[in-house]
Amino acid sequence: MRILAGTSNKALSENLSVILGERTVTMDIRRFPDRELYIRCLEDIKDEDIVLVQSTYPDENALEFLLLSRLAKDLGAATVTGVIPYFGYARQDRIFNEGESFSARTMAGLVEKEVDNVVCVNLHKGSTLDEFRDVRGSVNISVMKVIGEFLRTAGIDMVLSPDKGAIAYAKETADVIGVDFDNLEKTRIDGSTVSIAPKKLDVEGKTVCIVDDIIATGGTIFRAQEALREQGVKEVHACCAHGLYTGGGIERLEPVLDGLCSSDTIESKTSAFSAAAPIADWIKERVE
Ligand code: R5P
Repeated sequence: MRILAGTSNKALSENLSVILGERTVTMDIRRFPDRELYIRCLEDIKDEDIVLVQSTYPDENALEFLLLSRLAKDLGAATVTGVIPYFGYARQDRIFNEGESFSARTMAGLVEKEVDNVVCVNLHKGSTLDEFRDVRGSVNISVMKVIGEFLRTAGIDMVLSPDKGAIAYAKETADVIGVDFDNLEKTRIDGSTVSIAPKKLDVEGKTVCIVDDIIATGGTIFRAQEALREQGVKEVHACCAHGLYTGGGIERLEPVLDGLCSSDTIESKTSAFSAAAPIADWIKERVE
């Protein structure tokens, strides 16, 4: 087995390589002056099981995924397992309005043509995994237990999800720490505005952590911490799988939180824990 690291997730690829005890393939990946990708594999990977690590966000990373996976097959790889730390377009997981693109399905259709197995992480909606219809193995890994391990000694009294739909995340994290969990009540008004209903929670004087799959604009977490502070919380931390931080999300949140952390599915200054261990566990069981 060999790790083929695309350019989107160097740290995660390195972590996977260490945990699996498998070398990364030496590659030459750069851009021509017109920004088109130049990709060359500098080693013989014929008959190898290739674990390709590359997100499909933003768009240029998606194209790199497709070029790398096809290259691995063209060079005679025995199998290609696509590890997609952040699967772009996962939020377009259905047709909301007539005439819209079902983007998650289309992207899954492109990916599945090139891989034998697909490994996603905290897909916005778990059912998106079913869109990979023609693969041997597929999995939607959750990093919520990893968040629990990370927070075990952080003095967290309670774990919260922003809404009821995400309460399973809060439970996963809370169970590892050994504390209570609950959910806030979020209503999305539009793409960048949310409201948090004044649900009474037993948070007075407590240190709480809000967990979510994605932090994008930061609007959800911002409103959540406001609602919690109104109820006398002592500290508010936030942890997510994917720190997208669109439109100044970090700058918006850092001043109002006591801690802000994300995994390495999207590398940023808040990446504090790695998705590598649960990904490696699945690969060990299914690919080796
Ligand atoms: C929504 O369902 C997701 O789980 C996140 O809560 C959402 O994507 C966060 O977005 P934002 O940071 O823009 O509020």
